Amino acid sequence: MKSIWQADMTYNSLNSFVPEHLPVMQEKAFEFLQCKPGGTYVDATLGMGGHAWSILEKIQPGGLLIGLDRDKESLEKARLHLLPYSDSTRLLHENFKNLPLVLNNLGLGLIDGILVDLGVSSFQLLMPERGFSFQSDAMLDMRMDRTQYMTAANLVNELPEERLADIIYRYGEERYSRRIAAAIVAARDTARITRCSQLAAIVSRAIGGRGSRPIHPATRTFQALRIAVNQELEGLEEFFVNTLPFLKPGGRLVAISFHSLEDRIVKRAFRMLAGHCVCDRPADLCSCPRSERARVLTPRPLTAGDAELAVNPRARSAKLRALERNS
Ligand SMILES: C[S@@+](CC[C@H](N)C(=O)[O-])C[C@H]1O[C@@H](n2cnc3c(N)ncnc32)[C@H](O)[C@@H]1O
Repeated sequence: MKSIWQADMTYNSLNSFVPEHLPVMQEKAFEFLQCKPGGTYVDATLGMGGHAWSILEKIQPGGLLIGLDRDKESLEKARLHLLPYSDSTRLLHENFKNLPLVLNNLGLGLIDGILVDLGVSSFQLLMPERGFSFQSDAMLDMRMDRTQYMTAANLVNELPEERLADIIYRYGEERYSRRIAAAIVAARDTARITRCSQLAAIVSRAIGGRGSRPIHPATRTFQALRIAVNQELEGLEEFFVNTLPFLKPGGRLVAISFHSLEDRIVKRAFRMLAGHCVCDRPADLCSCPRSERARVLTPRPLTAGDAELAVNPRARSAKLRALERNS
């Protein structure tokens, strides 16, 4: 069956204006997931259902795909996209950090594989009204889950200067974080900061011509706020640790991350599950679990090849790691 990504019509013709989202590192992800007919798989970050479609193709007949996304709009787009396979899917509006609870409630027993493709989708980034882009004049929102209260506007207008600077430094790895936080606080004393373009201009002015940057001056600040609004890094390590017991022995977990902060967490969690020390303490003080519950299949993270980069620049920063549960 043809996915609408592969078909001659575009997603847009089905579904009003929707930016295209090409699944990242699809071939490598499937090499490791080893989806088989009749298997049960989780796509923990369903997005527009690009990876999910290919999983569904591979698990026929008799397979089941459980798809989660915290973004209701994405979930509905994916539901439409995956309609031809509706009998083989369960799609849920959920944070993947609740996956153990979801799997317990579904009572399906152990599963064959899990895919986590972290971060935001092109759909979210490019829909101006979602407020993720410094290039838009939309409301400063950045919530993946629009049922949540806190937006980026709340953070920039309400956090103390020091906390804002910490967020911009930690999640954006921005060396001018203190200068930027001070500029935000000065600006909000005059008028509430409500629009993406307003914040982008404040950050650009604060940085001025400092540093020679190939990227927009507001890139790192926007990334930091997005991570903070969506609490993207909190509980990520626990997710891997708590989810592993739901895999069958030999079951596989594949994670794709898009920035070094995420990749570091994935790497640490995988090393811990494989029984390696992940603390910096001397051996006699180390209390890492050291039980070999899994095997790391990717000693180094894999990256996208030139052919993929030529058609999907978003794959540039992708890093893929895979793990197999031990018997
Ligand atoms: C990079 S996109 C996934 C794209 C998808 N693999 C595809 O092929 O279309 C990431 C998706 O994960 C979702 N997401 C991010 N963090 C999440 C979380 N903690 N729980 C559930 N969904 C999450 C985002 O809303 C977004 O739709």
